[in-house]
Amino acid sequence: SQLTTIGNSTNIQWHNCSLEKVDRQKLLDQRGCVIWITGLSGSGKSTLACALSRILHQRGKLSYVLDGDNLRHGLNKDLSFRAEDRAENIRRVGEVAKLFADAGVICIASLISPYKRDRDACRALLPNGDFIEVFVDVPLEICEARDPKGLYKLARAGKIKELIQKFSGFTGIDDPYETPLNSEIVLKHGEPCSSSPTEMAEKVVFYLEEKGYLQ
Ligand code: PPS
Repeated sequence: SQLTTIGNSTNIQWHNCSLEKVDRQKLLDQRGCVIWITGLSGSGKSTLACALSRILHQRGKLSYVLDGDNLRHGLNKDLSFRAEDRAENIRRVGEVAKLFADAGVICIASLISPYKRDRDACRALLPNGDFIEVFVDVPLEICEARDPKGLYKLARAGKIKELIQKFSGFTGIDDPYETPLNSEIVLKHGEPCSSSPTEMAEKVVFYLEEKGYLQ
């Protein structure tokens, strides 16, 4: 037998199962993949994720949304917003998303995921083509004007860094957002096909159709 060490786990062995992804996909009549939605806070990632999930559901396709904010209520509640914790946040969600895709599900992950390195590490977890990055490209000024949770206002007043989250800033204000350069889909604010969450979701559905993920 071949026992290996992975990270801090020693003497472990991979177990194969005779029931595979292709079998599950046949049952569902779709192909499992990860749609990774990235963008600033307030850019509309979660709204897009829900709209997309709803359209797919109506078409009889099984999807599941992994939302950054929501996962921080459970799986990731031990993580802060400092860079190392954001990296761990993205890593965990990437691994979970990979499992969903392996189950044959269309997994929709919506997280700020501000660092290119972390996004690319998730991409590398999946077979070629099965990681579809969607950049919700909404300028900071627009996100800040929307400010649905009042966090931009707090950040501008310097309150997030000084008082609430001692070692992290707010993305776009005093913490970086590395603009994606190779996203499969860019939904640019103000462009004709990006005027509503439904239109944006339809653009993603069209891409999935074209690439054969909806069979
Ligand atoms: S990350 O960067 O990918 O780990 O962030 P994510 O898990 O997606 O969580 C983003 C939501 O957390 C709220 N929030 C913050 N965002 C950015 N920076 C700081 N410091 C911060 N503190 C709290 C914010 O409401 C994000 O929600 P969305 O849905 O993105 O607007």
